[in-house]
Amino acid sequence: MRYVGVMSGTSVDGLDIAVLDLSAGAPRIAQSTTVALPPDLGTALVALTSAGDDEIARAGTCDAALGEFIGQAVLACLECWRISPHDIRAIGCHGQTIRHSPDTTPPFTLQIGDPNRVAETTGIDTVADLRRRDMAAGGEGAPLTPLFHDALFRDAERHRIVVNIGGIANATMLPAASDSILGFDTGPGNALLDAWIRHCRGEPYDRDGAWASQGSVAPKLLETLRGDGFVSRPPPKSTGKELYNLDYVSRASTPFDYPPEDVQATLLEFTAWSIATAVERWGPGTGDVVTCGGGRHNHALINRLAASLPGYGIFRSDDLDVDGDGLEAAAFAWFAHRTLAGQPSNVPAVTGAKGPRVLGAIYPGS
Ligand SMILES: Nc1ncnc2c1ncn2[C@@H]1O[C@H](COP(=O)(O)OP(=O)(O)O)[C@@H](O)[C@H]1O
Ligand SMILES: [Mg+2]
Repeated sequence: MRYVGVMSGTSVDGLDIAVLDLSAGAPRIAQSTTVALPPDLGTALVALTSAGDDEIARAGTCDAALGEFIGQAVLACLECWRISPHDIRAIGCHGQTIRHSPDTTPPFTLQIGDPNRVAETTGIDTVADLRRRDMAAGGEGAPLTPLFHDALFRDAERHRIVVNIGGIANATMLPAASDSILGFDTGPGNALLDAWIRHCRGEPYDRDGAWASQGSVAPKLLETLRGDGFVSRPPPKSTGKELYNLDYVSRASTPFDYPPEDVQATLLEFTAWSIATAVERWGPGTGDVVTCGGGRHNHALINRLAASLPGYGIFRSDDLDVDGDGLEAAAFAWFAHRTLAGQPSNVPAVTGAKGPRVLGAIYPGS
């Protein structure tokens, strides 16, 4: 009853691999790690997330290379954890999103990382293409993790709000004493902070928000950013780096002439505000905010989030014994289990799909 989940999020900071153990009934993350992508592959994947020349050939090459890398990385991790591939029922493979376009006609979403190669390399049944069926049924194809958040965090007495701070942030509302699930992307997570520090200082991310903490919030820029149409839009909604990228920052900040650290401080404030706005506007009311994803390590961001949500308890998923770095990968392991069992994994109230759907396609390992 063990499954592997593999995920590379919009931050393209590495490949998350988790083992999910279902032997006790309730899902438990048994192992998780983040494997660095080969630098050339990482660069090529980032390049594919925006328009450019020769996209089809580059996407085809990256699809094959990433599929191969995922297969090898899963085998290496299993060996390191002393788990035989024979003891893994299936791999749930998200792949890398290179475009997410829920608002075009027709809408589409595109993940690469060839599952044929994952199955061929590992010999393990692989479940992939987990977003497009929801979209075919009229949904956004995202977020999918709310059902997993429900399985892990629902509490009978306290409202719980799970906030995953990846490149994009998403929130799952789990009212106490209820089985309703609401979830949606709230806007940027680390995307703007990463884009700006990379542009100004060549660093991949602002560790602990240290650079932002050296700057001061610029009120006019903050006001401009708060005019963001996505944050004020009611759910269902999902977004990506197609919106929240360096261009977004440049467009908002160019009319002003602020020191770069003030821009970073303002982006951090805007990010915290956008999450807090979602929690207050569409959440169940005061309760526990449970943070997961890489952004929960950003102390400055979490402090601003806490300050924006007085009366709420602010926790890390780790405080509740759930590894906040492996959680998304583990979610895809769980979806693989559900797909093999013929169970749906989308939540129509979250994605806007016409109904529950069994997600993905199965690539037999042998
Ligand atoms: N100590 C830290 N301080 C600030 N930000 C961090 C820290 N650790 C991780 N991050 C942020 O988390 C991001 C990765 O988070 P992750 O949940 O993997 O996102 P994604 O799902 O988009 O890949 C990094 O790009 C970085 O911005
Ligand atoms: Mg990541």
